[in-house]
Amino acid sequence: AEDGSAAWLRYAPVATAQYRAVPTRIVPSSDAPMERAAAEELQRGLNSMLGAHTEIAAQSASARGAAVRLVLTPGTSPEALDSYTIDTSASGIRIAANTPQAELYGVFHLLELIGAEQPLPKHEQQTAAAGIRWTDEWDNMNGTIERGYAGPSIFFENGHVRQDLARAGQYARLLASIGINGCNVNNVNADLDLLTPAHIREFARLAEVFRPWGVRLAMSIDLTSPQTVGGMSTFDPLDPAVAAWWKDKVDEIYRAIPDFGGFTVKADSEGRKGPSQYGRSPADAANVLARALAPHHGVVLYRGFVYNNHLDWNDHKADRARAGVDNFARYDGTFEDNVIIQIKEGPIDFQAREPVSPLFAALRRTNVAIELQTAQEYTGQQRHMVWLPSMWHWVLDTDLHADDRSTPVEQIVTGHSFPLANGKPRRGGFVSVTNVGMEANWLHHPMAMANLYGFGKLAWNPDQPLAQIIDRWTRLTWGNRPEVVKLITTLQLESWQVYEGYTGPNGIGTLTNILGYHFGPGIESAERNGWGQWFRGEKDGIGMDRTANGTGYIQQYPSQLAAKYESLATCPEDLLLFFHHVPYDYKLRNGKTLVQSIYDTHYSAAAQAGSYVTRWQQLHGVVDDERYEQVLRLFRFQAGHAIVWSDAINNWFQRISQIPDAQGRVGHE
Ligand code: GCU
Repeated sequence: AEDGSAAWLRYAPVATAQYRAVPTRIVPSSDAPMERAAAEELQRGLNSMLGAHTEIAAQSASARGAAVRLVLTPGTSPEALDSYTIDTSASGIRIAANTPQAELYGVFHLLELIGAEQPLPKHEQQTAAAGIRWTDEWDNMNGTIERGYAGPSIFFENGHVRQDLARAGQYARLLASIGINGCNVNNVNADLDLLTPAHIREFARLAEVFRPWGVRLAMSIDLTSPQTVGGMSTFDPLDPAVAAWWKDKVDEIYRAIPDFGGFTVKADSEGRKGPSQYGRSPADAANVLARALAPHHGVVLYRGFVYNNHLDWNDHKADRARAGVDNFARYDGTFEDNVIIQIKEGPIDFQAREPVSPLFAALRRTNVAIELQTAQEYTGQQRHMVWLPSMWHWVLDTDLHADDRSTPVEQIVTGHSFPLANGKPRRGGFVSVTNVGMEANWLHHPMAMANLYGFGKLAWNPDQPLAQIIDRWTRLTWGNRPEVVKLITTLQLESWQVYEGYTGPNGIGTLTNILGYHFGPGIESAERNGWGQWFRGEKDGIGMDRTANGTGYIQQYPSQLAAKYESLATCPEDLLLFFHHVPYDYKLRNGKTLVQSIYDTHYSAAAQAGSYVTRWQQLHGVVDDERYEQVLRLFRFQAGHAIVWSDAINNWFQRISQIPDAQGRVGHE
């Protein structure tokens, strides 16, 4: 049977002809845990894929003979980004790295090239685009996972760290294989008693299973901890006793976990308490933690997801999208060096399409990281296939044109757009909310792990072509047969557009049922409540007016982009309803009315989702039966659910607009 937990590390046998020269002796760089993990991984991979009998030589026996040599040449700067080279020559293969984890990355890269039957490079050099390459897991200590769709937590049960951490260790290995170097293991809505001494000792066990893979453990904390754990009367970040409490607590954590990564903070958001309670700013709160962490080289990921969830629907100036810039821009330049503002990719909340958050361009003297969501909260919850790197790539490529220069998001989050005064790039990077669970294959849908894989690849190198990323994932996960690679890569590459097509049109935001589980259509559930995910579907027209006449949100963008979004003539139509309120018979550039375009798109996208079933059936007997059946079942579900979505949306538009479908369709039979 297939081992679903292997994900893209199956190490299935490959055609060996081009790898005959790969030596069967590995010379490790040292006997330290990460270096040993690298050598053992190499041995496991080569033996399994090439049917070889590779041995690990003693380090001292290294001088002569062909070998795969692992070499560690630490750089001088502790800030240096992970980097490795691979060289092949008559005397074998040399993988040289500047950090132990980069040595692992070099090994995994070599194994990946072989697994995907790619030629080995004569010389290749790779350097990470940014230092922060983390996943956030929204696990609660009771074992449940917020927005987790693949079973209970691999880290916690019954209020404690699990006894058996085998899965956590396997997960760290998977993360290392795609260059991820940090994992925040608990919900941003953190348990209030998380930081008790007993829990910290338990977290140390988790850090131990991460350590050989170069994955630093991080935690989400609640800012009230000085009260809830420390028994103090206040958590005011400017109170010296509170600062002293944090310092002691952080020292205690580092005694237990010397390579602890840092804290993620959700405050003043969705019912979490925060510095506003004392009239203090996000900078006050972030900095008190940052000062405690700095001596240990830890960081604070302070989330930009701060907004008022009791907005007044009747106020046409009220706009949740404004919250990021409104709450943070004025504190630019006042955050400590080890604070990083973690900004969700869009200004609302992980919809199928949103514009890029303007906060990326508003923080010029502050470190930032982008938060993406691999957990498909609003995008089908791992019951629909949606390959999100297509969306992320579009986001990372978006040029905000700050100061009328080219400042694409990827350059901002890798610290290059707004460098430090000395010209060096800022700290920054990439975070994925992932939420893997105990289900054997981690994320439920056999296709969903392509999202985590793609996240790691883009975090390492945001310029890596999408076609290459999905090609590699497919080969490693499903094998190298051409018909398999062709079909799966084609389906994955079209999947985001298909999902967007039968769910939310033209940047409308969410038509998902937001009152329940964020799954399935609930067309008006986002309207007329304080959460502010509105699209204002009225008799006269639809869409949020975010122009200067409306909420003014568009003015938060640098001027070129603001001008483009403000004018109907230049606003991208896939974001039309995010920015403008227009009549239902508004003419799109292709001559169709808005409402007719919505009808057409929904029928065609639902049909395309339906086609996944028959296209997949071509692989019957070609891929293993177990995964074949699993995917077939999910594709059938998606096909049906796409019809439910499509009909719900089209019926609603017909009712509210009073404009019938020009083709006379009234839904699927
Ligand atoms: C979304 C999600 C919540 C989560 C929040 C966050 O609103 O539905 O479950 O807590 O994002 O990112 O903090």
